[in-house]
Amino acid sequence: MSRQYWRGSNLLNPVPAVMVSCADEEGNANVMTAAWAGTVCSDPVMVSVSIRKERYSHAIIERTGEFVVNLTNKKLAKVTDFVGVRSGRDVDKFNLEGDLKITKEPSKIVKAPCIAESPLCLECKVRQIIRLGSHDMFIGEVVSTNVDESLLDENGRLDLERADLIAYSHGEYYSLGKKVGKFGYSVQKKKPVDKKKAVKKTVPKKKTRNKNSK
Ligand SMILES: Cc1cc2nc3c(=O)[nH]c(=O)nc-3n(C[C@H](O)[C@H](O)[C@H](O)COP(=O)(O)O)c2cc1C
Repeated sequence: MSRQYWRGSNLLNPVPAVMVSCADEEGNANVMTAAWAGTVCSDPVMVSVSIRKERYSHAIIERTGEFVVNLTNKKLAKVTDFVGVRSGRDVDKFNLEGDLKITKEPSKIVKAPCIAESPLCLECKVRQIIRLGSHDMFIGEVVSTNVDESLLDENGRLDLERADLIAYSHGEYYSLGKKVGKFGYSVQKKKPVDKKKAVKKTVPKKKTRNKNSK
């Protein structure tokens, strides 16, 4: 493989494109898109969102210490882009119309609202803010995970494939493609075949030769 060596660039791809909602002290809600978001801890469950200081949402989240990470799907792709190119300083992003319409839904624990159209909303309380440079990283503890019931299978298990989530890669939005494996499949042993249960293959018998025929 021959390579070119570039200076450091933000090319960790794909990443999520989530909508981060918040509300100020008077209850005025806002939402912005974030692609610099990730899972950073399992116990306690924590996520990070890196936000530039100049975003309208930045000061609100810093003051209130709360935000909601709303996962996005194919239906929400256009509004996900829109709330990432318009500021809450100029537009009430919860008062849009047509395919840009998103609705505030009260959260269970935090004052910041969820987005009703989002399949999965993670309510977060800010635990740390790390000043990185261009962005401040807000580390939030997920205090409630709000799951659309239509994502649950008949056994009550989460079937995230039903959410039709999108990813963001090198400036473009994608639906997720075909499943190519699952956690640990590379080391999974093949299940031994239960001979009793195994269905015998019915191979058509070869015609037995007449011993006398040559
Ligand atoms: C796909 C996409 C991803 C983005 N990711 C981030 C991000 O991770 N951090 C950030 O500060 N801004 C990000 N932005 C830009 C903000 O969402 C945008 O500036 C938005 O208008 C800020 O809204 P606000 O001023 O109402 O807070 C992204 C925009 C798009 C379209």
